[in-house]
Amino acid sequence: MPYLFVILSDRTLSKAKGKGVEGPVVPPPNSCDEPPHGCPTLAAFLFFAARVGLRDASITETLTMLYDASMPIPDRLNPTFVTARPAAPPRPDPREEARRRLIVALDLPSAASAARLVAQLEGNCQWLKVGLELFVAAGPAVLEPLVRRGHSVFLDLKFHDIPNTVAAAVRSAAALGVRMITVHAAGGPAMLAAAKAALDGLAAPPELLAVTVLTSMDPVQMNAVGVDLSPAAQTELLARMGLAAGLRGFVCSPREAASLRALAGPESVLVVPGIRPAGAETGDQKRIATPAEALRQGASYLVVGRPITQAPDPAEAADAILNEMAEALRATCE
Ligand code: C5P
Repeated sequence: MPYLFVILSDRTLSKAKGKGVEGPVVPPPNSCDEPPHGCPTLAAFLFFAARVGLRDASITETLTMLYDASMPIPDRLNPTFVTARPAAPPRPDPREEARRRLIVALDLPSAASAARLVAQLEGNCQWLKVGLELFVAAGPAVLEPLVRRGHSVFLDLKFHDIPNTVAAAVRSAAALGVRMITVHAAGGPAMLAAAKAALDGLAAPPELLAVTVLTSMDPVQMNAVGVDLSPAAQTELLARMGLAAGLRGFVCSPREAASLRALAGPESVLVVPGIRPAGAETGDQKRIATPAEALRQGASYLVVGRPITQAPDPAEAADAILNEMAEALRATCE
């Protein structure tokens, strides 16, 4: 429906409202503006609209609908109208949105193998995650070519140490040009606060993510390290600790994404590993979901490693995951 209307009579106004037309009321032409003949009310409106340069085809449509053939729009006016509100921003393309939200974990043993994989994925993947395996093997130098090629890099070293050491490591990591870094929430409130404070004052700090409960942990593994809470309850406890320390980013399993989204709010960043397309090997991951399901549960980003890196054709595997993500996102983009 149009959102701008010029009201020239009470009858027109009530008819327009009955049709759901809304918008500012523009005053009628003053007495020296001689409306053309035809339907007096409609003609006066069109005459005035044309004079002030209003253009909007949908207004003409609505008026045509309201006045029908018995009150035709005078051909000779042939008015065009401008919209009163700025056009809505274009809707994001679901496939592009999927590309923006997929993080490929480069869990590989050398810089050379990482470079080969990145070359295969180039067009498809914006985000790359460098974790312990590659970082320990290749050192910080492995990051520079990725950043230089325009990739967004997630440095996933999951710091967990005394507050002073973690704060220093966070500062060093932030200087490497990466966009996300991780600390273990289980390091405690003081460690989280120190990590957060280490980024204060930086012009473009990376997103500091608190890892809640690893996706490889199940109740048996948790009990073995003295945690009696369920994965969901432990995730909530750690997330509340992170929020209290001022963090807004978390790593969590897809199983806890929905409740964490509700707890942390729509602005929080939820990075979700444990992603397995239907039929894929689970490996050591326990609390998993498909790409589509993880997005539906409220994940901001999906982290995918072996389903892409160990696939016979990594580019094809990434493409299939992006298509599944795009399909799930289509509902929200349209
Ligand atoms: O190969 P896969 O898809 O299981 O890789 C998952 C990646 O996400 C790994 O790099 C792993 O270190 C990381 N990760 C995780 N669970 C967490 C945090 C990070 O699996 N809670």
